[in-house]
Amino acid sequence: MRVIAIDGPAGSGKSTVAKAVADALALGYLDTGAMYRSVAFAALRRGVDPEEPDKVGHIARDMQLDMKDDGTVWVDGVDASIEIRGPEVTRAVSVVAANSAVRAEMRDRQRSWAAKHGGGVMEGRDIGTVVFPDAELKVYLDARPDVRAARRSKEVTDLEYETVAADIARRDALDQGRDDSPLTTADDAVLIDTSDLTVDQIVAAVVAELEKVP
Ligand code: DC
Repeated sequence: MRVIAIDGPAGSGKSTVAKAVADALALGYLDTGAMYRSVAFAALRRGVDPEEPDKVGHIARDMQLDMKDDGTVWVDGVDASIEIRGPEVTRAVSVVAANSAVRAEMRDRQRSWAAKHGGGVMEGRDIGTVVFPDAELKVYLDARPDVRAARRSKEVTDLEYETVAADIARRDALDQGRDDSPLTTADDAVLIDTSDLTVDQIVAAVVAELEKVP
């Protein structure tokens, strides 16, 4: 099974790069951040406070989550692809992602997805450190905070740059500071600073690293 792990903070270029690498290698692609967002979405939809760890853990185990190959995300039979990117879910997701019961369940589902797809390119925060420590290649993408905020504010056109920058800084701190599988670089990850690179250059760098793998 071929697993390529692409981790890094928000706005580092993970999604764009992971999708392009998956296409280049004819592998499947899994956005694990979208899975944590889906748990937050399911909690909000069921009227459960995201800060209630036991109830949210139960939802994570109970919910039907379908990460479709066409990139859409279905939660309990509803297409949640747009709403999981909205401000409500984005506000709630860090606390949901810090919940160990949620993480245990998502890890299981991520490993099952890979087994079913014969591996794939998986992006997240803990793929190379925890979910697939034996991945064929681990890439850690990063970029300067101002560059990451500028990228995100281009995606979310209805928010000011300062609001997006503050939200990224808040989520970085929560993702890096949590006890369970915090965002950190695996010892054997290839670090790429994407601040001044084009998408094509980053993809080429990842493919070149893969060619070095014995
Ligand atoms: O990549 P993203 O912004 O869609 O991720 C949403 C949240 O989920 C983010 O706060 C970090 C968390 N996350 C995580 O804890 N572990 C992962 N493997 C992927 C995302």
